[in-house]
Amino acid sequence: MASSSNAGLFQLLIIFCSMFYLPQAQETTLPDIGLLKSCNIDKIYQFGASKSDTGNRRIENPLDTCNMHPYGQSFLKEPTGRCSDGLLMIDYIASAAGIPFLNPYLNFTANFSHGVNFAVGGSTALPVKKNATDSATRSSLQVQVNWMYNFFGSLCNSCSPGNHKKTLFIVGESGNNDYTSALFQGKSVEEIKHKLMPQVVQSIMHAVTNVISAGAVQIIVPGQFPLGCFPIYLTVFPSNSTTAYDKHKCLTALNDLAEAHNNYLQQAISTLKTQNPNTKIVYGDYYNAFQWLLNNAPHLGLDAESTLKACCGIGGRYNLNSTQRCGSPSVPVCPDPDRHISWDGVHLTQKANRLIATWLVADFLPMIDCKK
Ligand SMILES: *[C@@H]1O[C@H](CO)[C@@H](O)[C@H](O)[C@H]1NC(C)=O
Ligand SMILES: *[C@@H]1O[C@H](CO)[C@@H](O)[C@H](O)[C@H]1NC(C)=O
Ligand SMILES: *[C@@H]1O[C@H](CO)[C@@H](O)[C@H](O)[C@H]1NC(C)=O
Ligand SMILES: *[C@@H]1O[C@H](CO)[C@@H](O)[C@H](O)[C@H]1NC(C)=O
Ligand SMILES: *[C@@H]1O[C@H](CO)[C@@H](O)[C@H](O)[C@H]1NC(C)=O
Repeated sequence: MASSSNAGLFQLLIIFCSMFYLPQAQETTLPDIGLLKSCNIDKIYQFGASKSDTGNRRIENPLDTCNMHPYGQSFLKEPTGRCSDGLLMIDYIASAAGIPFLNPYLNFTANFSHGVNFAVGGSTALPVKKNATDSATRSSLQVQVNWMYNFFGSLCNSCSPGNHKKTLFIVGESGNNDYTSALFQGKSVEEIKHKLMPQVVQSIMHAVTNVISAGAVQIIVPGQFPLGCFPIYLTVFPSNSTTAYDKHKCLTALNDLAEAHNNYLQQAISTLKTQNPNTKIVYGDYYNAFQWLLNNAPHLGLDAESTLKACCGIGGRYNLNSTQRCGSPSVPVCPDPDRHISWDGVHLTQKANRLIATWLVADFLPMIDCKK
């Protein structure tokens, strides 16, 4: 009698506890990326822009916004130049591979025994015009590729496939800044798709060809996120027409632009693969990783009402005002960055970076050459 009522109580307790642990339990059903360790990757070379930069831009410009408080508040409690409240996707990918975080190339005293991060916040896929006057970085994707050649040595004595068997090259994301500046200059999405996009993709593929020449045998080439789901574009390009928004209330035209870029990029990748049958060239599907976040927000511990709102920002529907951005002293931070996808309207929270990195690794793992 007593024991059966105890059992009943115990059952109740389990049900009670599982009510609270449910979100946690579902999080543990995230894809298992532990297998990446078994791939014996011992170096990663990363190229790209602010979503991947672990400190180059702040060496170029210590006053860069991403080097200001509250950036980095969830990691080391201080800014590291990463454009997030904490870690980036590349940090989680490196950890999953079992290697230390990548140091920025421009820190010449850093330890590069496990690879180099060449990515620079604000960089473009296309070369920077000589007459460009703004304060943005001039370290475009091709500049980063030249850094790689410098790093490998002027004679490129480590430039043979034999030397890079255990190395992963990640070329991108790149191109987002090219599109953003064109959009902010008032260019139409159609014009961008027809004129700029082919050039941007060509520039990325040129970089991929260069890393292959340097001996790369495993390369991830990430595409674009669904741009229309980012608070910055939602704020700057609002529409009164309901047809301008998709089921997640993202801007359809900008998501279409991202998809057009991604389709074009994947075609270019498959062409390059036929020319380089011994090289694994794998598309990094940022777009669907992000859609997975949106589709599963509550199960992933995210606030379903805040998926399109910046955590660090102020005002408007998306908690973002382009004249008062995160990093300015008066701009507040949400109490719960881990429940947000967007950190500052442009970049992702550490939590979103972790979730997306997990999805990405699980997605590309079967496609890289893991048996060495
Ligand atoms: C550069 O790397 C050194 C050695 O790890 C470190 O002490 C220093 O803080 C780094 N500097 C910057 C600006 O990241
Ligand atoms: C660089 O880092 C690696 C791995 O963490 C370590 O084994 C090595 O001793 C470091 N090299 C130097 C010069 O500190
Ligand atoms: C910079 O040069 C390009 C041609 O290379 C030209 O189209 C553009 O208008 C110039 N921009 C400025 C600000 O002078
Ligand atoms: C939306 O409608 C309001 C009120 O009619 C108008 O003031 C505003 O300019 C419109 N905005 C856009 C982006 O069309
Ligand atoms: C953004 O901030 C500026 C300066 O405080 C203010 O004048 C403007 O109305 C704000 N815009 C929006 C859309 O909230």
